[in-house]
Amino acid sequence: MQNSIVINSKIKKFNKKITVCGDKSLSIRWILFSSLAEGVSKAKNLLVSEDVLATLKAINKLGIHYSLNNSNCKIYGKGISGYQYKKNIIINAKNSGTLGRLILGLLVNSKNKIRLIGDKSLSKRDFKRISDPLSKFGSKFKLSKNKYLPLTISGSSNLKPIKYSENKGSAQCKSAIIFAGMRTQGTTFIKAKKSRNHTEILCKHLKLPIDIKRKKNFDLIKIKKVNKIKSLNYDIPSDISSSAFFIVLTVLAKDSILTIKNVNINPTRVGIITILKKMGIKIIFKNKRIYKGEKNADLVIRSPKKIKPINCPVKLNSGAIDEFLVIFLVAAKANGISKFKKLSELNQKESPRLKWGEKILNKIGIKTITTKDSIKIYGNPRLNINKKITINNFLKDHRVFMTSVIAALSFGGKWKIHDKDSINTSFPNFLKIVKDLKN
Ligand code: S3P
Repeated sequence: MQNSIVINSKIKKFNKKITVCGDKSLSIRWILFSSLAEGVSKAKNLLVSEDVLATLKAINKLGIHYSLNNSNCKIYGKGISGYQYKKNIIINAKNSGTLGRLILGLLVNSKNKIRLIGDKSLSKRDFKRISDPLSKFGSKFKLSKNKYLPLTISGSSNLKPIKYSENKGSAQCKSAIIFAGMRTQGTTFIKAKKSRNHTEILCKHLKLPIDIKRKKNFDLIKIKKVNKIKSLNYDIPSDISSSAFFIVLTVLAKDSILTIKNVNINPTRVGIITILKKMGIKIIFKNKRIYKGEKNADLVIRSPKKIKPINCPVKLNSGAIDEFLVIFLVAAKANGISKFKKLSELNQKESPRLKWGEKILNKIGIKTITTKDSIKIYGNPRLNINKKITINNFLKDHRVFMTSVIAALSFGGKWKIHDKDSINTSFPNFLKIVKDLKN
């Protein structure tokens, strides 16, 4: 099958309602929590993508059974100490940083050595940021070149609680430490720079012994040993990070309106909305509701007449961390120069995304000035492309592929975008929704 897509025309005006797939962070967390619960947990609207399937396979390796029927999933938990597995098992996290990092938190007490591997992209990402705090609990790690996958973890039966300052703003690190704290006698203290807080919300919902104090720039989290987790039925809301591509498509289209139904609008995830509002775009949250501690709503987006440039406040970075590539496309059409700073974490993702932002913008004729952690984008409100553009995304970063598709549909030109398969990691029906919006 052809693994590339050709796009030769801009999208026409549309007025549509869509539903995007279930949230990836919540899907992975639901699986991990349910794998520790007592009895059967059920999910509806689970994201059925490679990252999530890899998570199901991982808990299965640990002796936990599941069934999956379309996006309905059941997990047959055996309790907090219910993992049973042979010696020398291998867990393959494939492309998923969230799976690879979070699961290590649950393996800090493993009796046998476990090997964790991943694909080419994940094997270039930093795992020392996880092994460092988890080693302090007492588990032991061997990493490739002291930092990378493949790694082995050997758990300890004598875990000690830790005090840790998480200062990267990484929800994956914070969550791994919370999971490890759940397995440890005593109280673990985490001072965590703000990042998505789905793990904490689920802990609260499950009435686990967690205490969270919110300060201005960080959270203070205390977590104690967990003895029991109740089964968890969950109807997973749609993913704002997947919605982001269609939010931006509407912003860059002419006279269009888009409604996206039942999207998770957790305040730690809506950085893109705050950024776009500052750029003069109207986005409304309709039917706001709270479900198991998470805020959800329908989003209504309208194409603006004009886009204002932004000097993006650094405090919005963590809440938009997965959305910057598409946000840069909005800046490309703004009426002036936009600035984004302190974004070194962007180069720690599935591929170096700050570099990719620069590359895509330069290919479409937009001037940028980039440093190792910042980008200045010289917007052009009349941006219109006539030339041929090819995108070869060697690390198969799903968000690079989808951003390129949105650029092609928004700015014109003759595009050949490779590595279509990459969407399977997070958003398998992305191109189907594109097709629906075209008709
Ligand atoms: C995620 C956290 C973020 C994000 C990733 C999902 C999570 O990574 O980029 O896509 O579900 O916890 P970091 O924790 O490394 O910032």
